[in-house]
Amino acid sequence: MSTRTSPQTASAPGKVILFGEHAVVHGRPAIAVPVTQVQATATVEPAPSGSGLTLIASDLGQSISLAAAPRDEPLAVAARLTLAHLSSFEPDATLTVSSTIPIASGLGSGAAVSTALVRALAGFLGHTLESAVISTLVFEVEKIHHGTPSGIDNTVVAYEQPVYFVRGHPVERLTVGAPFTLLIGDTGARSPTKSVVEHVRRTWKRDPARYDALFDQMGDVTDEASRAIEAGDVDALGPLMDENHALLIELGVSSSQLDELVEVARFSGAMGAKLSGAGRGGNMIALVEEDFAEEVTEALREAGAVRVICTRVTTTE
Ligand code: PMV
Repeated sequence: MSTRTSPQTASAPGKVILFGEHAVVHGRPAIAVPVTQVQATATVEPAPSGSGLTLIASDLGQSISLAAAPRDEPLAVAARLTLAHLSSFEPDATLTVSSTIPIASGLGSGAAVSTALVRALAGFLGHTLESAVISTLVFEVEKIHHGTPSGIDNTVVAYEQPVYFVRGHPVERLTVGAPFTLLIGDTGARSPTKSVVEHVRRTWKRDPARYDALFDQMGDVTDEASRAIEAGDVDALGPLMDENHALLIELGVSSSQLDELVEVARFSGAMGAKLSGAGRGGNMIALVEEDFAEEVTEALREAGAVRVICTRVTTTE
């Protein structure tokens, strides 16, 4: 194994969940796709002998040595897991991460930062890790952010492919029969996934029959959407998104802001819309024909979206 003397840079995309959030924590399927318009980047550069590994989060203006980092510091956890996986010594290097992915808004920022870090550090140590290995390492870091993550974020971000995901099952890459366009509208309200997931778990425990039935319905919608995506039946996806949003309202994870943006998107020409991710804040997504993208974007902005990202969902080789 050889430590590089030249800087190593790696990146990872953001993501959105198209169908099945929350239900996926409870064993039902979900669909997620990478969002390459936002990215996390990690660079590892050689440092003087004996200096050890320094971790820098440039967006936050934070710098800490690996040796001094708390046990549960996410960057340090990702670095330690990578070194342990490679049975490597701690290199003398500076590892800098930065990201254009908004945090706590359902765009997979934590998973992307960890993925970029693992890739760059492994590269610096002369290794290229497989997506499955990266996903497994990042899952361990995700537990710090999420408590009981389903594993969908680390999977879609590490594989950089649309995925059909069921907790505990091998990942299934989804073939996109006909590319389609999504708008991602940010409410600007931060919403920590962990607390929303915990809230859902508490309500489920109080009335398992009712909530299991909701999760089953979400699972059925996801399965139907997966068939439509593979068949290139884009027209079928809009109503399925609407249906999924209605179920998420019933689950109690939407918000007036999310409902407003979803309504505005539909009214201004989207084929369907729903919240995406944990809910209570964060982002919503709208399916649009390309000709309507600008009009719907404008309407979302006027209705208070702080950012609208336009992304094209397709299968990449
Ligand atoms: O990170 P978010 O906000 O996209 O939430 C992930 C989706 C959940 O299903 C709510 C949680 C999980 O671990 O799958």
